Amino acid sequence: MNVTFADISLARQGTLAVLVTEGASLRGVAADLDAKLGGALKRAMKAANFSGKSGTVLELVGPQGVSASRVVLAGLGKSGDLSGAGLEKAGGELAGRAAKAKESSLSIVLDGISAPKMPAADAAAHVALGAKLRSYRFDKYKTKKKDDDKKGDLKSLTVLTRAPATARKQYAPLAKVAEGMFLTRDLVNEPANILHPGEFAKRAKALTRLGVKVEVLGEAQMKKLGMGSLLGVGHGSEHESKLIVMRWSGGKPGEKPVAFVGKGVCFDTGGISLKPAASMEDMKGDMGGAACVTGLMHALAARKAKANVVGVIGVVENMPDGKAQRPGDIVTSMSGQTIEVINTDAEGRLVLADALWYTQDRFKPKFMIDLATLTGAIMIALGKEYAGLFSNDDKLSKQLSEAGEAEGEKVWRMPMGEAYDKAIESRFADMKNVGGRDGGSITAAQFLQRFVNKVPWAHLDIAGTAMASPQTATNQSWGSGWGVRILNRLVADHYEH
Ligand code: BES
Ligand code: MN
Ligand code: ZN
Repeated sequence: MNVTFADISLARQGTLAVLVTEGASLRGVAADLDAKLGGALKRAMKAANFSGKSGTVLELVGPQGVSASRVVLAGLGKSGDLSGAGLEKAGGELAGRAAKAKESSLSIVLDGISAPKMPAADAAAHVALGAKLRSYRFDKYKTKKKDDDKKGDLKSLTVLTRAPATARKQYAPLAKVAEGMFLTRDLVNEPANILHPGEFAKRAKALTRLGVKVEVLGEAQMKKLGMGSLLGVGHGSEHESKLIVMRWSGGKPGEKPVAFVGKGVCFDTGGISLKPAASMEDMKGDMGGAACVTGLMHALAARKAKANVVGVIGVVENMPDGKAQRPGDIVTSMSGQTIEVINTDAEGRLVLADALWYTQDRFKPKFMIDLATLTGAIMIALGKEYAGLFSNDDKLSKQLSEAGEAEGEKVWRMPMGEAYDKAIESRFADMKNVGGRDGGSITAAQFLQRFVNKVPWAHLDIAGTAMASPQTATNQSWGSGWGVRILNRLVADHYEH
C-alpha cells in the first residue's frame, strides 16, 4: 500500500473517511462535506445515533454530490483521550474496512484533530502508520485466491491534512519501523521447511543493502569458539546451525554499541524430549526473538539511526535424531561453564547462553537485551498482553517499561534472585537447563543471567506476544512483529545523539 499526504480536498475517488471526535458537531471539512451531500451526513448521524464514540463508523455508500464512492465518518472518542495508539487504531480500522469493501483507494481527512501534546502532523502520521500496519498480508502460499482472500488489495492511502509536508517528514521514520516489523512478521510466518537456518542467514544478509554489516558463522567457527551449548541443540538437524552477527554503525566511531540478541530456533520439536503433536506447528515461530532483532536492525538502518548497534542471533533447528543430544548429556559453553541437559526441549536458553557470552565478550556493549520465545510458562503468568521482562538493571528496566507503554508493546518486570537460581543447580555439572515447573520463566531467566557476565542486561520472554496473539486493528498477522517498536523507541529516546 502506497501512503501519501496531501492538502485537504474533498474531490477524492474511492472511500473518503472523515475522523471526528466524540460529541463534536460537524465543523470545518466535515461541515463542508455535509453541505456537498445536501445534509445527508447530519441526517444519517441522527438516524444512526452516531456520536463519534471510539471505534464507531457511519458509512454512506454511493452518495450523491461527491466523487467518492463511499463516505465514512469514523469516531475517535473523546478528544481529551486521544493518543497515538488511538489514531493508529482508527487508521487500521479504516484501512481494513476499505479493503474488505474492495476499495483500491482510501482518503482519510484529519481536520482540527490533535491529541493532547500531539501536533496535527503527528496525528496524521500515526493514522497512516496504523493503516500501513493493517495492510500487511502473508498470502504467498495461497495459489487460489478466493474472493474472501482478496481483501487487502487497498492500493493507496492518502491522509489529508493541513500540514502535509510536516506529516510526510514525521511519517518517514515510522514507515521504516513498519518495514522492519513486516520483515519480522514475514520471518515468523514463514514455515520451517522454507526458513531453515541457511535461509535465515540469506535473509539477514539482505540487510547489507541498507549498510548493515552481516557476518555468518557456521558450525566449524562456533566449534572453535567453544560454543558447545548452542551446537548441541542443532546436533539432530540436517541444517547447519548459524550464528549471525549484524552491525549498524550510525553512532560516533569507537562508541560502545548497544546489543540485541535473539533466539532463532527455526523449528522446535523439543528434540528427544519430544513435544506433543497438538499445536506443534506453532513452533515454526520459535525464532521470533531472532526475527525481531533482524527486523529491528532493518528499521534502525533504514531510518539511519545515530547509534552503534549490534544484533546477534543464534539460528538452529531442534530435531530428534540418532545424532541428537540426549537428556543427561553434559555440554561445555563458550563461557567455560558446563550444563547438564535435563530436557532437550529447554533449548532456547542453550542457544542464548553462547550467543550472550559471545556478544559481551566481543563487543563490550553498553547493554544487552535478548528476546526469546523462551517459555510456555510466561503465558501462564502474563497471558498475551505483556511480554515478561527480566533484568539485572533498574535503569534499563525502567527505560524498557516506558518505551513499551509509549509504543503499545507492554512489558511486565518479573522477579529474579538467588532462591530461583538454586533451582538450576546440577548434581553433575555447573548447572542444569531446567529448574522444574515452579516459576519456569524465572528459572529460565536465571539460567541466562549466568551468561551475561554482569553487563547491564534485560531478557524479554516473548512466547506470548510474538505469535498467535489476538488480531487487532493494526495487526491481523499470526507473527505480530512484536518487539521492533519498543526497541526502536528505546534506542531513539536514550541511545541516539
Ligand atoms: N519454544 C518453547 C517455548 C514456547 C512454548 C514458545 C509455546 C511459544 C509457545 C521452548 O523451547 C520450550 O519448549 N520451553 C519449555 C521449557 C521446559 C521444557 C522447561 C516449556 O515452556 O514447556
Ligand atoms: Mn523447546
Ligand atoms: Zn523453543
